Amino acid sequence: MINLLKRVGPIFFIPIALYCFFMERPDSGIASEVDKGLSIGERFHRETSLSWTKVLKDVFRRKPARPPAYKTYPDARVIALPPAAYRGMLLEEAIRRRRSVREYSRRPLTLEQLSQLLFAAQGITGRLFGQPLRSVPSAGALYPFEVYVIVHRVQGLEAGVYHYAVNPHALEQIKVGDFRREITRAGLEQEMLGEASVVFVLSAIFDRTRSKYGERGFRYVYMEAGHISQNIYLQAVSLQLGSVCVGAFLDDRVNALIGVDGRKEAAIYLHAVGTL
Ligand SMILES: Cc1cc2nc3c(=O)[nH]c(=O)nc-3n(C[C@H](O)[C@H](O)[C@H](O)COP(=O)(O)O)c2cc1C
Repeated sequence: MINLLKRVGPIFFIPIALYCFFMERPDSGIASEVDKGLSIGERFHRETSLSWTKVLKDVFRRKPARPPAYKTYPDARVIALPPAAYRGMLLEEAIRRRRSVREYSRRPLTLEQLSQLLFAAQGITGRLFGQPLRSVPSAGALYPFEVYVIVHRVQGLEAGVYHYAVNPHALEQIKVGDFRREITRAGLEQEMLGEASVVFVLSAIFDRTRSKYGERGFRYVYMEAGHISQNIYLQAVSLQLGSVCVGAFLDDRVNALIGVDGRKEAAIYLHAVGTL
C-alpha cells in the first residue's frame, strides 16, 4: 500500500503544486486592495500567514543556507561554569510568585546562580537521535538564539560582555569593562538595566530558523524569545532573585554592544536579573 502511494503520490502532488504556484496571485484583485491599507506590522502578519497554497509553494521556494548550530569565539577567554545542580522551589510556587522586579540590592550574583540561569535559558537537557535538545522548545529544534550576558556584578567574573557557549556550558569573554551606562542608555534609560547584576541579551540568528521555515520563521524566533525569558523569570524566582524582561531598547546600540550586525543576527529581548 505504502509502495503504491509512493508511486502514485507525485501524480497527484505535482499538478496540485503547479496549480497553487500559478493560481495564487496575492498581488492581484481584492488581496492587493486590502494590502494597500496595511501597516508594516499588519503586512508582516498577513504575509507570513499560512494557507495550504503557501505551504505547497514554500516547498519550491529557495531558503537561506543553514548557519552552524553553535556560534563560537575561538580567541575568547573561556570561563567554565559550575554544573547547574540547584534544586529549588516547586514549579507551582515559582509560577505563583513570578513578578517583574526592577529594584535590586548591590549584592553580586554568584557564579552558581548565573550558571543556573543560563542553563534555564538554553541548557542542553536531552538528546533525540543524537541531537542535543535544550531547556526551551524551538521550532524544528533549530535553536536560533545566542545568549549574551552583560555582567555588572558577579562573584569571580570581571565586568564585561560574555557569550554563553551552550555545548561546553561555559562563558566566552568578549569585552571587559563597565557597561552599566551603555546598556541603560541603549535601554531607553530604564535604570534597572544598570542596577541589575546581569543583563541577558537574547540575540537571534534568523537563518537557522529561516533555512527551514522561510519568512514564517521570523514569527517562530519571536515566540522562542518568550520561552527563554519565561524560563529565566521562573529560575530567578526559584533562586530568590528579581528579574524583568525588556522589549523596549535601541536595537542598533544593543547590537553594537554585543557585536552583531542587526540583520543576520539581532538582539530581540533583554532580561535583567539582580539580587533582592
Ligand atoms: C514583550 C514584553 C516586553 C516588555 N518590555 C518591558 C520593558 O521594556 N520594560 C519594563 O520595565 N518591563 C517590560 N515588560 C514587563 C511588563 O511590564 C510586565 O510583565 C507587566 O507589567 C506585568 O507585570 P508582571 O510581569 O509583574 O506580572 C515587558 C513584558 C513583555 C511581555
